[in-house]
Amino acid sequence: MSELTSLRQDCLSCTACPLAATRQNVVFGVGVEDAEVLFVGEGPGANEDATGEPFVGAAGQLLDRMLAGVGLSRQKNIYIGNIVKCRPPGNRDPQPEEQDACIGWLRRQTAILRPKIIVCLGRIAACRIIDPEFRVTRQHGQFVQKNGVWMMGTLHPAAILRNPSQKADAFADLVALRDKIEAVCEHTALWFG
Ligand code: URA
Repeated sequence: MSELTSLRQDCLSCTACPLAATRQNVVFGVGVEDAEVLFVGEGPGANEDATGEPFVGAAGQLLDRMLAGVGLSRQKNIYIGNIVKCRPPGNRDPQPEEQDACIGWLRRQTAILRPKIIVCLGRIAACRIIDPEFRVTRQHGQFVQKNGVWMMGTLHPAAILRNPSQKADAFADLVALRDKIEAVCEHTALWFG
């Protein structure tokens, strides 16, 4: 069993916060185990809770289409996880205490994957991982290096669905990501041909 599979097994029985009581499924994360690029969202919605897989609803389908446009996919070359692994009821933002209770799982996932780039999808992930003062509207697409890992925050796909005029900005962030991958991720860049 891989380290990630073993971590998933442990995570599936987590009861560290009250979200455990209302979940249908723990949404641990999905992708390739040698991913150099890790995407992080905020937390599962209804579709993710029902299936146990992140980003499978309308926002996730948009994300997959945009990723395909720059040669990335969860089946081939990236990993996708969330700040919290269980659905906050009614799709509210995960509360700071819930994030605190859950963040260790993401830390352990990151320690196993050792990604070269982390892309934060939306404000919650960017504030938690990059900078508590992160402003998505102003700082999306900008890379910063923290602890030897390149990090970037971009618009959350659900926000793009609500406001389609943001799609061009979000896609430009993915084009910048592709350039960064070519610069720092030898293995993933091979997928680009
Ligand atoms: N939104 C998120 O932030 N994560 C998911 O997994 C689904 C929707």
